[in-house]
Amino acid sequence: MSFTVTITPENITFDVESEQTILEGALNNNIRFPNRCQVGACAACLCKLISGEVTYHLDPMLTESEKAQGWVFACQAKVESNLIISLSD
Ligand code: FES
Repeated sequence: MSFTVTITPENITFDVESEQTILEGALNNNIRFPNRCQVGACAACLCKLISGEVTYHLDPMLTESEKAQGWVFACQAKVESNLIISLSD
């Protein structure tokens, strides 16, 4: 099963297999997505979840208010539904 991720406002879309992270899906589709460590440490991949569901293996290092604002670590967040995300705040 795969899901569609849309980056707004650029309107870039790509498919992500379930069990993959947002970042894995982007890189597999040759989408230029900011990243560095790919292990949840550098925050280069931070993006904002506008709609949809993600899950984590390990809880990301985000404060409650950052989570409430929708910030997600793209290299750690597994895609659980179609998503709309934004790379700017
Ligand atoms: S790439 Fe470093 S936290 Fe995601």
